[in-house]
Amino acid sequence: MKLHMRDLTKAYHEHPVLNVAEATLGMHGLEGLIGPNGAGKSTLMGLLTRRIAATTGTVELEDGDARHPLNPIRSHQVANLGLVKTNQRIQGFESLTIRDNLRLAATAHANETYRGVLDQNQTNDAIEAEIDDYLSQFTFADPDGFAKSGGEKKLLDILRCLIFKPRMLLMDEPTAGLPDDVTAKVMDMVRAKVKSGEMTVVIVEHDLELIWNYCAYVHFLSEGEILFHGTPDDVKNNRVVAEKYMGV
Ligand SMILES: Nc1ncnc2c1ncn2[C@@H]1O[C@H](COP(=O)(O)OP(=O)(O)OP(=O)(O)O)[C@@H](O)[C@H]1O
Ligand SMILES: [Mg+2]
Repeated sequence: MKLHMRDLTKAYHEHPVLNVAEATLGMHGLEGLIGPNGAGKSTLMGLLTRRIAATTGTVELEDGDARHPLNPIRSHQVANLGLVKTNQRIQGFESLTIRDNLRLAATAHANETYRGVLDQNQTNDAIEAEIDDYLSQFTFADPDGFAKSGGEKKLLDILRCLIFKPRMLLMDEPTAGLPDDVTAKVMDMVRAKVKSGEMTVVIVEHDLELIWNYCAYVHFLSEGEILFHGTPDDVKNNRVVAEKYMGV
């Protein structure tokens, strides 16, 4: 899946924070979105998933031959089109156990309501097996209890998104707060799913080594504008990126 945006702007109290004339995300499988603190990366991801209302502009989701304009779509319906986002700041996860969070995500597609899934005990063997598989690969202190630490919540947020089987996944600083070995495991899994054609991914990270290692293509955002994009080597060698972000 790809996301097309045009004349996309966001201003808070008439102070502009984002201004993207035209861009497409998702053409290169696993892409990075980098830029300084406050550049507008999270704002852009919020606009693309309709969690933040745009001031102007349009966003379209390209899915094979279909193009879905996202402007009329409400944020809670975006996931049903296959577009899902992980969160930079984690909230929630206090009302459901780790396992129930994964059950909910696995069955949360169109027409299934939050309550219905859990109350009617619609979870089936295949879903349970998939959840067991994830929980055997990623260790939680108590998988039948609640996610406790920030790291566990962050990991649960990512696994919740993956088990939903998105066709396009936006990841906002997913690995900040995760131990290095867990980060590598998550990213290897994400890369495998991208390679098999299950989904496209855009990842926001300040950990540039991760970006260079995993991303085929990188977009550079600064002061609300996409100033450059290219391969990791192109971006590493770009003068504007160096001046505005690498502190050279
Ligand atoms: N709700 C809001 N009201 C006012 N200003 C906001 C709001 N949300 C974000 N901003 C401003 O918009 C700009 C972009 O913020 P954003 O969070 O998108 O940056 P970011 O690139 O994700 O930064 P970081 O790397 O620190 O996560 C910042 O100047 C921020 O202060
Ligand atoms: Mg951010």
